[in-house]
Amino acid sequence: MTLDIDRQLLASLMIMGSVVEARDAYTGGHMWRVGQYSRMLAEEIGLDREGVFRAAIGGFLHDLGKIGIPDVILNGRHRLSQLQTAVMHTHPGIGRTVLAEHPLAPLALEAVAHHHERPDGTGYPDGLAGDAIPLVARIVGVCDAFDAMTSTRSYRSAMSTERACSILEDGRGSQFDAALVDSFLAMGQAGKLLPIIGHGHHGHRLASCPRCGPVIATHGKADGALHVCRACGDEYRLHRKDGGFELEATGRQGGAEQMRPEPDMAPIQELLRLMS
Ligand SMILES: [Fe+2]
Repeated sequence: MTLDIDRQLLASLMIMGSVVEARDAYTGGHMWRVGQYSRMLAEEIGLDREGVFRAAIGGFLHDLGKIGIPDVILNGRHRLSQLQTAVMHTHPGIGRTVLAEHPLAPLALEAVAHHHERPDGTGYPDGLAGDAIPLVARIVGVCDAFDAMTSTRSYRSAMSTERACSILEDGRGSQFDAALVDSFLAMGQAGKLLPIIGHGHHGHRLASCPRCGPVIATHGKADGALHVCRACGDEYRLHRKDGGFELEATGRQGGAEQMRPEPDMAPIQELLRLMS
């Protein structure tokens, strides 16, 4: 493969991914962060330009298959039941199916289909082990797990970076590729992860709804703007603070228009720039 890719086709692929995030009130910026971590990790281990590009796209699109997971499971406020977990585990396979007919499917298919495989062979969907798991999927697997742990989810709040790093270390060689964990932790030691952790985009620190927890996606909002939590409907006034926003509750509930997701095209434009 060369990087001589049709930009419009690539944009259409990325937009497919951004539809997933529009559905999920909790993942605000997850795709962007996993794309960033994956690009950085690919650079850290010395992959060539094409490998870095594939990691960035694979990281961004990895959860494409969540488009087929019911809302009640995706946004549930409790730990998932056994059946719900089994349904959730179908998302890599759904992603593979959704992507299959896209002309640029080979760019992202490995990451989409295999980011939940584990080196010890107990992952899903195919139970691949060790080097049988494509490298890009092993990269995205480490980065996805780190971001999931350091982000607030519907059933728990974000974990500290230190705790997430020690869990990566514990899963070194069994849940996660050992060499990639080492490289990822080295990036952490060097402070390279800090501009990404807890951010929805470059220089854009995320805020969480003080009442119910999910991320308040505030990209492009001005100081003093009103914003509504898409999970509980509470309305807030945004005040700029430390590269992010402080939320002041207005005591009102938002209307339907205010609860609309706002597509963020900046990560897509950034990936397109990586090509050129
Ligand atoms: Fe996933």
